[in-house]
Amino acid sequence: METSISTKKEQEIKIAVAGTGYVGLVAGVCFAEVGHKVTCVDIDDSKVELMKCGISPIYEKGLEELMQKNYKSGKINYTTDFRTAYREADAIFIGVGTPEQPDGSANLSYIATVARQIAESVEKDCLVVVKSTVPVGTNDKVEQFIKDFLVNDVKVEVASNPEFLAQGSAVDDTLYAERIIIGTESKWAETFLKKIYAPFNLPIVSVNRRSAEMIKYASNDFLALKISYMNDIANLCELVGADIEDVAKGMSFDERIGSKFLNAGIGYGGSCFPKDTKALDYMAKQQGYDLKTVKAAIEVNNQQKAKLFYKASKRLITFSGLKVAVLGLTFKPGTDDLREAPSIDNVPLLLDQGAHVYAYDPVGTKNFAEKYPEGKNGNGNISYVNHIESALDQANVCFIFTEWQEIKNLPAEIYKKLMRTPLVYDGRNIYSLAEMKQAEVEYYSIGRKSVKVKGTKYAEYQNS
Ligand code: UDX
Repeated sequence: METSISTKKEQEIKIAVAGTGYVGLVAGVCFAEVGHKVTCVDIDDSKVELMKCGISPIYEKGLEELMQKNYKSGKINYTTDFRTAYREADAIFIGVGTPEQPDGSANLSYIATVARQIAESVEKDCLVVVKSTVPVGTNDKVEQFIKDFLVNDVKVEVASNPEFLAQGSAVDDTLYAERIIIGTESKWAETFLKKIYAPFNLPIVSVNRRSAEMIKYASNDFLALKISYMNDIANLCELVGADIEDVAKGMSFDERIGSKFLNAGIGYGGSCFPKDTKALDYMAKQQGYDLKTVKAAIEVNNQQKAKLFYKASKRLITFSGLKVAVLGLTFKPGTDDLREAPSIDNVPLLLDQGAHVYAYDPVGTKNFAEKYPEGKNGNGNISYVNHIESALDQANVCFIFTEWQEIKNLPAEIYKKLMRTPLVYDGRNIYSLAEMKQAEVEYYSIGRKSVKVKGTKYAEYQNS
């Protein structure tokens, strides 16, 4: 196999990418951007046609510009014809989903399908690189699986190359990643993968395949744990009269702790943290090991999500017939992704109690409406509005679930001005207590004292 590398030296590297979701498409586009020749493979014809027109199936800053530029220059193409794409490729990156199964384990059926297609298509030596998050040991199985189904007498090796991009900043996270992790079992695979990544000029950490697979879970679960830890401390802060924002600030100066991912809120969501914590817990269980820390992170997160709903339920007795403004539906700003978003936990609870929900989100309403169509939903009602003001107008209560800039920009006074009762439950600690007090808004957030309005039976700044 050494020879095939040296003959490739002066040639461009042909890369096929399986799957055009966040991982696959962004990787493919960035490989094209640094000069490789890329073919992105997807099973969905209409999606492929759209991508050829420069339209991205996912909302990601800067992605469509790069898709259009590199399609025009011939550096990237899109196809459903996996046979040709895999046959011609020097390296095939797998970026298909590994969704969570009911028992918490990762569903590897999409990986298996692609592995089989690769085995039946390749006609020359090639490197298969798994970018999808997979349980430790999966890549060994993928390599064996491909070998079992190989049709032609060629060498295929599998490498692990986990992806660390965050949604909303996926392109920058890929082009300027803090590190590239490569997990290989041979010098050939290591050298080739390093060559593919050389134009990025980024730090590369080269380890064996199983360690690479574990780095992905260990990193994501550490971050999930960090958030759950802050949420746990925030809950205690509320009980003892401390302020989580001040506590986080004080902690952040310690370089060993770091200043990032210290924001308490209504729990982590998205496509990775919830899934990857459960998958690692499952993996440990399979080995007869009790992974206590990760289990605790999952438990805290589950409790955190509907915390404000239950707090508001106590304050209001019922939501029946109330106008409820919901600001933010997506799991975080900068994405239209609703997976494991707090809105998904809270809106059904509100509807179930007969609330009239007026939901605002700059990009997420379309996806949300697919789950909860506009109009009557169970005991309640949901309307989607294009302006925050329409949600707040005459509302009885407001929930903030996502810290979109549009929502952060709202002056505190607007709640008093527009709402029937200025009562705000903020799951993202957007406002300072002082500004809400000044604006005379009854305000509940995470890990801080609540702000009560004069004239209610509560004293201002009393603990909740
Ligand atoms: C994450 C990882 O950051 C990324 O490296 C990995 O590849 C995929 O998973 P992503 O899910 O896109 O990326 O979003 P991220 O910005 O990490 O946020 C995840 C969740 O944590 C969000 O729900 C966010 O609101 C929450 N979060 C994040 C907090 O509650 N507090 C914080 O301080 C940071």
